[in-house]
Amino acid sequence: MTVQSPGRINLIGEHIDYNGGHVLPAAINLNITIGFKKKTGSVCHITSKSTDGFLFNLEEPIKPKSNNHWGNYVIGVIDGILKLRPNLLSAFDCEIESNLPIGSGISSSAALECGIAFGLNELFNLDLTDLDRIKIAQKAEHDFVGTKCGIMDQFAVTMGQKKKLILLNCETLDYQLIPADINPYKIVLLNTNVAHNLASSEYNLRREDCEKALKIIQSHFPEYKHLAEVPLDIIKTLEKEFDEVVFKRATYVVEEENRTQMASKVIQNGELTQFGALMYGSHEGLSKKYEVSCPELDFLVDYSKNHTSVIGSRMMGGGFGGCTINLIHRDFLDSYVAAVSNDYKNQFNLSLSPIEVEISNGVSIIEL
Ligand code: GLA
Repeated sequence: MTVQSPGRINLIGEHIDYNGGHVLPAAINLNITIGFKKKTGSVCHITSKSTDGFLFNLEEPIKPKSNNHWGNYVIGVIDGILKLRPNLLSAFDCEIESNLPIGSGISSSAALECGIAFGLNELFNLDLTDLDRIKIAQKAEHDFVGTKCGIMDQFAVTMGQKKKLILLNCETLDYQLIPADINPYKIVLLNTNVAHNLASSEYNLRREDCEKALKIIQSHFPEYKHLAEVPLDIIKTLEKEFDEVVFKRATYVVEEENRTQMASKVIQNGELTQFGALMYGSHEGLSKKYEVSCPELDFLVDYSKNHTSVIGSRMMGGGFGGCTINLIHRDFLDSYVAAVSNDYKNQFNLSLSPIEVEISNGVSIIEL
């Protein structure tokens, strides 16, 4: 059996999934493909076309591997499945092939986790729901990889639908599918090819900053359960109680939540220029207040501001490298990409990798 598991984009609503905010992601047409085969015994062999494989024994306790080994995404999911469905797994082999660039903010990690969870669910008739698998995948990342991620990536990879954006309330997990009508614009990712090494440690620190902010707010207003729902006025009134950094983080979160809610309205009214302006606002906040950008990402977003063919641009995903997401007029796409690639190369002595994406279905079986 072969499973195809996509990467994801996020139009707007960055770093607010773990603050109970709204996000606007979608699955894309770049995938990880995973072949599964049952076998006898208890030893499973996981291989990858691009890196070393590994073995593990289902009869031995599962522990995270050291040194950020990629296998942690896989065995973390298996551990979660064994906890929810004890004794239903038996040995299998798994072969992984990916055309998703790693460390570029397209969530190759969620694609791998959700692909493994989906495949094993089918292979062993585990009767896990979409939400069970989404949560198992997220927990694998928390406990086996060490990134205290939100739920956006796993949700988008699992629930994605062709030509639809997912407006997800990360607190309730209610969602709405919004037609991605963006003609005459195309969604183009510009991969800085700067790997986001800092991402995991800084990510967890941002999360802690947000928790600090919420605690202070709750000591005055216990009715607020998460940061994204707090009105900006309240944060401003309490400014003196926050340290400067925590204040910036909290302000970013509530502003991004407002932008995302607004963006989901304007896109449904076809007001694409307004949508793009909100993307620019998001980047500004991510760069100056949340401080998860880097010079390469800022360069690309600033560059696009001087070109009317680009109506919106911002960094996407965890940050510190990876891609920008851009809405570029189809008639000027090639010329824009050529110009920005050239100037990026001159500035940073790095190649830019453009990726035009289509919004596609979530994880699925492609061969029985
Ligand atoms: C990573 C995490 C997500 C989300 C984004 C930032 O992709 O996995 O949960 O927090 O960063 O929006």
